[in-house]
Amino acid sequence: MIITIDGPAASGKGTLARRIAAHFKLPHLDTGLLYRAVGEAMLAQSLPLDDAAAASRIAALIDLAKLDRKRLSGDQVGEAASRVAVIPGVRAALLKLQQDFARQPGGAVLDGRDTGTVIAPNADRKLFLTASAEVRAERRHRELAGQGVVVTYEQVLADIKKRDERDQSRPLAPLKPAPDAVLLDTTGLDIEAAFQEALSVVRR
Ligand code: C5P
Repeated sequence: MIITIDGPAASGKGTLARRIAAHFKLPHLDTGLLYRAVGEAMLAQSLPLDDAAAASRIAALIDLAKLDRKRLSGDQVGEAASRVAVIPGVRAALLKLQQDFARQPGGAVLDGRDTGTVIAPNADRKLFLTASAEVRAERRHRELAGQGVVVTYEQVLADIKKRDERDQSRPLAPLKPAPDAVLLDTTGLDIEAAFQEALSVVRR
């Protein structure tokens, strides 16, 4: 059973994927962490984010077992991730890791931007989450405020719109629903309601 959950930044796909994976006792991969790890390493080494050769080299060394969600969760790293994610060599280097994870016996849950279109086009269930940019910005702003990060709602909204635009317009593996994905608009849903909706899609 392979389940893919794609969607834009702060659409709730990560939380949903974790809950779906726990419910069905399947392993879960947040594929965004891979791009974040590459972005973070580029920032740490003060490398320009459009240095395709360096980013591809770093991507080839990524180890799933060493990804640290906490260290990679910041918005600066998210922005860097979206910059390196346009580089074909980076995507190629990360492809096999993700496909191997998806193909493990028993199945897996993957979330990201292209898990239903590129990583696991034959997945058994595909969900594509949407939510208005304003609602996503509100959620993200609340989350950041909870962590004590001082940033305005307008700044968060502008960042989300910029990331959406970059993720949707890149030529390689752009953010878009697979033709056989079920769309789930979480704008008016809290996480529990979104989870129940997702469960009914998976069970269908
Ligand atoms: O989902 P998250 O915010 O962690 O993703 C960070 C960035 O990584 C995204 O904005 C996107 O550019 C990139 N990404 C991707 N393909 C994926 C997952 C994430 O290009 N499957």
